[in-house]
Formats: sequence, structure tokens, C-alpha cells
Amino acid sequence: MAGFTIQDFLAKKKNGGKITMLTAYDYPFARIVDEAGIDAVLVGDSLGMVVQGLENTLPVTMDEMIYHTRIVSRAVRNAMVIGDMPFMSYHTGISDAVRNAGRFLKEAGASAVKMEGGAEVAGHIRAMTRSDIPVMAHIGLTPQSIHRMGGYKVQGKTDEAAKKLVEEAHAVEDAGAFALLLEAIPMDLARRITEELSIPTIGIGAGVHCDGQVLVLYDVIGLFDRFVPRFVKQYANIRKDALEAVKTYKEEIERGIFPSEEHGFK
Ligand code: KIV
Repeated sequence: MAGFTIQDFLAKKKNGGKITMLTAYDYPFARIVDEAGIDAVLVGDSLGMVVQGLENTLPVTMDEMIYHTRIVSRAVRNAMVIGDMPFMSYHTGISDAVRNAGRFLKEAGASAVKMEGGAEVAGHIRAMTRSDIPVMAHIGLTPQSIHRMGGYKVQGKTDEAAKKLVEEAHAVEDAGAFALLLEAIPMDLARRITEELSIPTIGIGAGVHCDGQVLVLYDVIGLFDRFVPRFVKQYANIRKDALEAVKTYKEEIERGIFPSEEHGFK
């Protein structure tokens, strides 16, 4: 079982400590994230875009999420592993939501799930938490709603939209969510929601006032090069380093430099 629990999430909010969270999708990177002491690893459906090369997250399936979550759980020693409910794994009804969420805990070693949506999924969250499946809710920019939202746009910019998001935040808290992810909303709105809720908020493009932060790992280490959202800070350029290494390998084979004596057997 993971060292970091939902009680630790709540304790950090109470004590003013910041919750750290990153995505991971495979064994080596999940080990790195865990070893660095990150509190929670999200196996996000963003894997559709950053691992599978898809245009958006909609085609990602439950079986693919279970496959990646199982691999990540195998690598992680201390962080909480959270599985992301993919498009159409809960939209078809509450019993589908409970069954699919349960798969993350039963088959893939996760300790919790994340699900996009506000008041419209409150009933799902209630049923899942009653089944002992901890749920992190996710409002603001919800990438599975890309067609309704007309693109990846900042949400909650008008007074009316902001008021609706505050209501959604309360609805998911009342339904039993243990934390709330806020994506791409103005920072003053994120601050208001964070102050009003007793559960922790985790921000991505929601400013510094959230109780914690999450980013997509491949953005943070510079492995995803299709676009870099404004809210991302790149701490490394792994893609550049990997490209250089592969080019040098190719060149050394062609010039007869590799393999050298030391790489051979006698
Ligand atoms: O799928 C994902 O990785 C996410 C993060 C962007 C929060 O939902």
C-alpha cells in the first residue's frame, strides 16, 4: 500500500503544506517521480496525447488505463497512485462508474481515482466513495469536454462562469471527493475555491494559491514537443538530450567507433 494517503492530503491542507503531484505512465519514470518524493502520481489519460501520439484524450480506453496504472503501481513505493477515469468510463451511468473505478483499485494497485466533472457527476462520486473508492474531482478545463468547450481554453473568466465553478466545487466536496483538481482557471477564482473548501485543491494552470500543484511529467522534463502550455515550467530538455545521444550512437556505428574493445568479449 502507498505511503501517502488521503488522510495525508487532508493533513497537508490543514497544516498549510503544499501537495506535490505529477503524472507518470511507465516504470522508469514512475520510479523517478516516487524517488524524488512526489506525494501523488497521477496516471493521467493525458497518456493518449503524450505517449500514444493522439490528438486528444477521448480515444483512451479503460484497458489502456489499467495497463499503465498497473506498471506505475509496480514502480511506486511511497507516493499515492491515482488512476484517471477515461472518456466514457463513467458517462454511461453510476454503476459503470463504480465498476470501472473499482478496476483501478482491484486490478491496477491504485489507491484512488480522478474523474472530470462537477455537479453532474456528484451522484457518481457519492456512489464511488460509498464503495470505498476515494475520488479526486476535476473541474475547470476538463479535456474530455474539448468538443463542448471548443478547445483547450481558460474557464471561469466571466462572473457567471466563476459562480458556476464555485458551485461545482461545493457539489463535489459535498458528494465526498477527497480533493479537487482545478485546471486552467483564473488564480483569484482558484484562491476563492481553495479558501471555501475543506478538501485540498490541486492546481494545473490555476495559480499559486491552490493547496498543491500537478503537471504532466513529459512537459516538466521536456519530452513532449507538440506544444507547451503557458502554465508549464520546463525543468529539463530530455528530448534534446535523447536525440543527441541517438544521433551520436548512429554516427559512432557508422564511423566504426562503437563497439570498441571494452564492449566486446574475449
Ligand atoms: O490526464 C492528465 O494528465 C490530467 C492532468 C493534466 C491533470 O488530467
